[in-house]
Amino acid sequence: MTDRSPTPNPFDWLDAHAARRTAAGLRRWLRHRVSDDPVLDLASNDYLGLARHPEVAEAVAAAAKEWGAGSTGSRLVTGSTTVHRDLEAAAAAHVGAEAGLVFSSGYLANLGAVTALAGPGTLIVSDARNHASLVDACRLSRARVEIVPHLDVAAVENTLAVRTEERALVITDGVFSVDGAIAPVAELLTVARRHGAGLLVDEAHALGVVGEGGRGTVHAAGLAGAPDVVVTSVLSKSLGSQGGLVLGPARVIEHLVDTARSFIFDTGLAPATAAGALAALRLLAGHPELATGVRDRAREISAIARSLGLDSPEPHGAVAAVLVGEAEAAVAAADLCLSLGVRVGCFRPPSVPDGISRLRVTARADLTDADVERARAALAAVAARLNSQA
Ligand SMILES: Cc1ncc(COP(=O)(O)O)c(C=O)c1O
Repeated sequence: MTDRSPTPNPFDWLDAHAARRTAAGLRRWLRHRVSDDPVLDLASNDYLGLARHPEVAEAVAAAAKEWGAGSTGSRLVTGSTTVHRDLEAAAAAHVGAEAGLVFSSGYLANLGAVTALAGPGTLIVSDARNHASLVDACRLSRARVEIVPHLDVAAVENTLAVRTEERALVITDGVFSVDGAIAPVAELLTVARRHGAGLLVDEAHALGVVGEGGRGTVHAAGLAGAPDVVVTSVLSKSLGSQGGLVLGPARVIEHLVDTARSFIFDTGLAPATAAGALAALRLLAGHPELATGVRDRAREISAIARSLGLDSPEPHGAVAAVLVGEAEAAVAAADLCLSLGVRVGCFRPPSVPDGISRLRVTARADLTDADVERARAALAAVAARLNSQA
């Protein structure tokens, strides 16, 4: 007879794990959202306020009528449409790259680009604060990965200089999401070139925000179209849509179509979603002031935080950070803002490598002066709470 003695449930350990994370203030919860939410949203990545722009919504609806809900298959099998092609051409033209390729998310664009360009026999040199999708891409690539201190060009050079691998790739965020720093892309490319390495820059937080017309850090550094630079980016932030991009030399793009597993074995981005991103990109191209608008608003919010005695470094992109300290205090501060009608983001370990939990207050190009006053009132309450606890 089979032994039916009770065995512990194999997922029992999850309860203790969840309790530990809750006690440390690290637990993540989904928050329900309604479409007519009266809360002022300063937590989203819709940097230019284009996600609900009428022209964008119209383009999505028209493409959905034409193509339906999905792309019906991998881009290589059934899923590549004129919308994808036009979006790729427009995105490449915007940042001055030779060619482009759309992925179904920014995460998958990074996985695809890094794993197709680096593998066993390649050294990857990666900034310590690169986005999680680049970190995962490095792990998946099976290349040797050296993590270098944040923004440390000399460390990149030293690491490249002693490598034994034939090929090397330096990877960095263009604008870092946690501290808002801008990568020294020109200096990185100089050292990469000295050592025969390629450079990959993730412009997720820079597209639509940094540089003239929001063309990103690579363009702003005068490196648009460089034959040894690959840009990745997202359609999910300033373009208000979903999806990812790789932009660079045509032969790199052709290699990705041929070998990038997250492109080949993934259903293509829905044409309607691509059409929304294309409409947003056209709005950005026609209104370069959107990029300066969001940067100005972010600086304004950060200056307000400082005027209230809060610690907020001058932002270079769309996000004003307000440093709080302990994870629990940052969560309580974000909750306080929400109770006052303002939603802000909250970064805690492990998303903050320096261990300082912080509010992440995202500006948008379409914020009004009245919105900024609401943000001021919420930050004033945070400052009062933190002062009373000091
Ligand atoms: C720097 C960076 N790269 C890539 C991604 C992934 O993009 P997506 O959300 O479109 O998958 C993000 C998104 O949070 C990001 O911040």
